[in-house]
Amino acid sequence: MYQFDRQRYEKRMQWFCQARFGMFIHFGLYAIPARGEWVRSAERMPEAAYQPYFDSFDPTQFDARQWAKAAARAGMRYAVLTAKHHDGFCLFDSGLTDYKVTNTPFGRDIVREFLDAFRAEGLRVGLYYSLLDWHHPDYPHYGDAHHPMRDDPTQGNEGRDWERYLRYMHGQVRELCTGYGKLDLFWFDFSYGPMTGEKWRAAELVDMVRTLQPGIVINNRLEASGEGFGSLYDCHPTPWHGDFVTPEQMIPPRELKDVQGNPLYWESCVTMNGSWGYARDDKWYKPAALLIRKLVECVSRGGNMILNVGPTETGAFPPQALDILEKIGRWMERNGQSVYGCGAAGLEKPDCGRFTRRGDTLYLHVYENALGPLPVIGLKREQIAAVTCLADGRRISISNSWVHSDYPDICFLDLGPDPVLPDSADTVLRIDLKGA
Ligand code: GLC
Repeated sequence: MYQFDRQRYEKRMQWFCQARFGMFIHFGLYAIPARGEWVRSAERMPEAAYQPYFDSFDPTQFDARQWAKAAARAGMRYAVLTAKHHDGFCLFDSGLTDYKVTNTPFGRDIVREFLDAFRAEGLRVGLYYSLLDWHHPDYPHYGDAHHPMRDDPTQGNEGRDWERYLRYMHGQVRELCTGYGKLDLFWFDFSYGPMTGEKWRAAELVDMVRTLQPGIVINNRLEASGEGFGSLYDCHPTPWHGDFVTPEQMIPPRELKDVQGNPLYWESCVTMNGSWGYARDDKWYKPAALLIRKLVECVSRGGNMILNVGPTETGAFPPQALDILEKIGRWMERNGQSVYGCGAAGLEKPDCGRFTRRGDTLYLHVYENALGPLPVIGLKREQIAAVTCLADGRRISISNSWVHSDYPDICFLDLGPDPVLPDSADTVLRIDLKGA
């Protein structure tokens, strides 16, 4: 049986930590009504009302290679697709259900095409799998916290066989871990109330996944959800502990550490607008510049960001998402070095922006220029070997101006005569420190 081992743990987390930036993809039948992936539950929709989406599912524009290219160009290093979401619909050719993509008019195994295409672009790949299942007859209906039929006493739970559901769920996870090549990540979703840990027969499940996919990284939602750090936090990891914490639609306000002070791995999952599954009326997109700064914020606290795209019913990414990805990509192309493999700098957050760090290299992310020379608080000039503007390699000199002579303990940089920063989203200065 799987048991926690810190050395092996740190080893399997290396790529995850290096990657820092991933793509989440929420795709399924819910792209057709286009009111988000919870539509069945939110609108208490009976199975029959949802069935037309299954009968007509035919995303004719779907091209996993286009998805993968957009992700790679944005500078993302891994991607996670919803193999099955809460509605129970499977984007893969499961042998355990008829409720799957290969039985829709579309007829193709989207999970397989996704994995092939993203691997071909050099990205790490992961699958999201919902523990909840609103289609399976053995999943509790009436009285469950989230089931679409939760308020309907005629949908009582007599005769529902939980063990049979567990066999189904474990069986599907086995299919995904055996039929689709090497997976880098498994993203379970999610635990709530009594539906947690061993209720999912989680020790056995995780042992199976780790045996079939050695080195795989698993999230913490077999014992948590967007809330809860999971048992690694207490330093008493359960056999189904998550490898990383999954804050949702927020960024932890500080670095995450376990009770002994070891850094915890985490990944903020965030949407570009307010929805995971495609939502036609949700126009609340975050500007690319904001998302760039939010990615940097994650990295500056030692975390990852996985940014979601909800393809439309045609299978294409919404134009707003493509535009955002392209803009982020242009920044990443020039500044990715300040993100990949970087983490917290161990310095106070500067007024002008943020720090990230990799070894003896510091990155100062400047959002707001100073009036005159730019102070770098926390560093002495003797510690600095060189400063360059990351995007164009321009040398930045340490200022000798008289104007800051009252602050001899602070190093000031001379960014030149132009008061307007070259990149209004984030101008990154690379500061090479003199090696220890
Ligand atoms: C959730 C939601 C959901 C989404 C997800 C992403 O808790 O139920 O629809 O898939 O987490 O983090």
